[in-house]
Amino acid sequence: MRTKVGIVGGGPAGLVLSHLLYLEGIESVVLESRSREELENEIRAGVLEQGTADLLDATGVGDRMHRDGAVHHGINLRFAGRTERIDFADLTGKAVTLYGQHEVVKDLISRRLEDGGQVLFGAEAHEITGIESEEPKVRFSHEGSEKPEKSEEELACDFVVGVDGFHGVSRPAIPEAARTEYTRKYPFGWFGILVEAPPATEELIYANHERGFTLVSTRSPQIQRMYFQCDPTENADDWSDDRIWAELHARLDTEDWTLTDGEIIEKNVVGMRSFVTEPMQYGRLFLAGDAAHIVPPTGAKGMNLAVADVRVLSQGLAAYYYSGDTGALDRYSERCLRRVWKASRFSWWMTSMLHRFEDDDVFGHRMQVAELDYVTGSRAASATLAENYVGLPLEASKGSGTESPQRPAGAPMGGA
Ligand code: DHB
Repeated sequence: MRTKVGIVGGGPAGLVLSHLLYLEGIESVVLESRSREELENEIRAGVLEQGTADLLDATGVGDRMHRDGAVHHGINLRFAGRTERIDFADLTGKAVTLYGQHEVVKDLISRRLEDGGQVLFGAEAHEITGIESEEPKVRFSHEGSEKPEKSEEELACDFVVGVDGFHGVSRPAIPEAARTEYTRKYPFGWFGILVEAPPATEELIYANHERGFTLVSTRSPQIQRMYFQCDPTENADDWSDDRIWAELHARLDTEDWTLTDGEIIEKNVVGMRSFVTEPMQYGRLFLAGDAAHIVPPTGAKGMNLAVADVRVLSQGLAAYYYSGDTGALDRYSERCLRRVWKASRFSWWMTSMLHRFEDDDVFGHRMQVAELDYVTGSRAASATLAENYVGLPLEASKGSGTESPQRPAGAPMGGA
């Protein structure tokens, strides 16, 4: 098998890249180890930055997002018994869209297949070789439709893009001596639940509470998404529904507001870390998304960063196939990493400000409350949070954070 761009991984990064390359007339093959069904049912975060939503829209895969997603113009921060709103529309002219990552994946898969794209499910990459040559190869096993047993195959490419997540084979294909990894582990995890209930709040609530951080989010008028800080080794099955609701009420309820309960239809625990690898490219292998960097979930930057990476990459590949110029490809890592580090800083900062740290004394908690008081009381500080939350521009330039709204504040994008 041969293609121009071999894409290892069929999550949002791989699918968006394959879609963008198709629109540029560049052929690619996506190798995804999971089945289509698994991929389409994996519950992940659900906040699309303005730029992510605009990209899906501009490239013709935004219809269902407009119909079923909800545009949010702000968030609430709850701390010290108070709830303060950060008004994105006023501070940045931008908004975010609440729409599950797996819904984005469904939209992209169906569009890629409609366009005749090659997305191989159940195709497990084992090894990437020849990345210093002009024809790198991906060795993979695949369960073909004719043969029930898995066969070994090889995909030869001009370029390989590794978007196979933190545990994938792509990152280790870069020689150890040629990369540097930066990690921070957090001493807590998130307990996530999906609930059948109407929304308890119009906009998300991020709560700092002495029992730990809690987040109230939404998926649709019928399904709500909530998270609470827990021990990272917690077993979700040890938590009965009653115990979960008691914990959520203890952390969230105020004198004039009570959380709406419902039936819990899914629960899981995720650990939290920050991770960045540098550089994000070596020879003809490019890394993007979780293969290159992980952020803690606070602020929901993961998928947005992945989409921003492949956007930059698609521009570099388009320039190369158009004119043979490798300049933009050569600068891929450098361009991405500036944004990656800023999103890592934002996610770390939101995590630090909102979670309870075991070794924190009362002074540490007072510092968090003072910071939240400042962030919600100062227009400059609120704008800092808002411009990061709705998404920094692809290219760093002075003043570009809050200017040139792409959509007038308050303009509807459909949804609730
Ligand atoms: C969601 C996840 C996040 O990490 C976040 O900061 C906000 C919302 C979500 O899954 O809805």
